[in-house]
Amino acid sequence: MRIVLGVSGGIAAYKACLLLRRLSEQGHEVTVIPTEAALRFVGEPTWAALSGRPVQHDVWTSVHEVPHVRLGQSADLVIVAPATADLIAKAAHGLADDLLTNTLLTTQAPVVIAPAMHTEMWQHAATQANVATLRDRGLHVMDPASGRLTGSDTGPGRLAEPEDIEAFALAAVQESLGAGGASASSALDLAGTRVLVSAGGTREPLDPVRYLGNRSSGKQGHALAEDASRRGAQVTLVTTTDRPAPTGADVVGVETALEMRDAVLSRAADHDIVVMVAAVADFRPKARVDSKIKKTIGQDDAPTIELVRNPDILAELVQQRGEARFPILVGFAAETGDRDGGVLDHARAKLIRKGCDLLVANEVGDGVTFGQDTSTVHLLRLAHPDEVQTIGPADKDVVARAVWDVAVEMHSWS
Ligand SMILES: Cc1cc2nc3c(=O)[nH]c(=O)nc-3n(C[C@H](O)[C@H](O)[C@H](O)COP(=O)(O)O)c2cc1C
Repeated sequence: MRIVLGVSGGIAAYKACLLLRRLSEQGHEVTVIPTEAALRFVGEPTWAALSGRPVQHDVWTSVHEVPHVRLGQSADLVIVAPATADLIAKAAHGLADDLLTNTLLTTQAPVVIAPAMHTEMWQHAATQANVATLRDRGLHVMDPASGRLTGSDTGPGRLAEPEDIEAFALAAVQESLGAGGASASSALDLAGTRVLVSAGGTREPLDPVRYLGNRSSGKQGHALAEDASRRGAQVTLVTTTDRPAPTGADVVGVETALEMRDAVLSRAADHDIVVMVAAVADFRPKARVDSKIKKTIGQDDAPTIELVRNPDILAELVQQRGEARFPILVGFAAETGDRDGGVLDHARAKLIRKGCDLLVANEVGDGVTFGQDTSTVHLLRLAHPDEVQTIGPADKDVVARAVWDVAVEMHSWS
């Protein structure tokens, strides 16, 4: 997930370092936004080093990226820990005088507030009214813990422990997914997981205007990316299409099989699960002509196009990971039955030949699967090639969920 961690100016800012560390170690991409006061307690280098990301705290830096809007819009979750009485008051009243308060006004993501302050400040009618306002608006405000405060005081007002904030935040995300009508399988079972999905059909150029292509629309790949993101994964989407990508995904645009190969092979080892959905051309024109191939007036001859084989990316992925069996590899195969065997026979042979962990065999034909919203797929696992799980005809979102259900199960065993 893309998480914004807002830190406001209380002594407990040091505890946010531990929270940041926990979230980063689980694979979340955490951007820290400290307030000016927070930076008096813990400096920018600490936040930058622990998050591995640049730290911004005002709206006047990198203005071309419009950070006061972008960070909130692209977040899957915003946590403010510690939240001072001042920050809570500003949020309740919609003030926006720094980057963190701007972010709180622009985000659509669940917002978790973990207050920390002296007991008197926490119990003050103003703070309690502000907390009630935020809760009424749907923000998830934790109760502070009770215990030793700064100095010799004890009482309610202590920042909750990092692990409790984390658990509270994940529950808030799950609740928001439920409210959005997501299915039961949309639990955050991919949280902390990095997945790479390839999508679309490659285009192999003949000349500057023509290409050899295929009918893949990218719908299935983008549906997989979307569901993975919903389930908490950090998604890399290598795609040939400009279909919408999930918020927070790292989108790599490619066109040809060779570009797709480079993009996937160079990134695969940084991911836990790689799903190759893209329809990669088996062949490409041997040469790309620099100027448009002309028809010669008065001659009936058409040019002959010599083709060469493209690399088999899935086979190379299997080879690249070697004995390590990491990442988990999922292949998609478009299959039709013929006189040598049915769809399942061909799929089983391909699974064993390629050596990926899961093969999703798509039944294709005229008007079936490519470009459509529905498809029928057969899921075959290398560990049990004789067992088949058939899904469909079903919406591609349903297929995506079924594929992740199996991949998650495999990941939990690995
Ligand atoms: C040593 C020290 C500790 C503080 N601790 C807290 C605290 O735990 N909670 C709080 O609400 N304010 C605390 N304050 C006051 C805030 O720093 C102050 O209200 C500040 O304006 C908050 O700014 P911010 O909300 O923009 O981060 C503390 C101030 C100092 C000097």
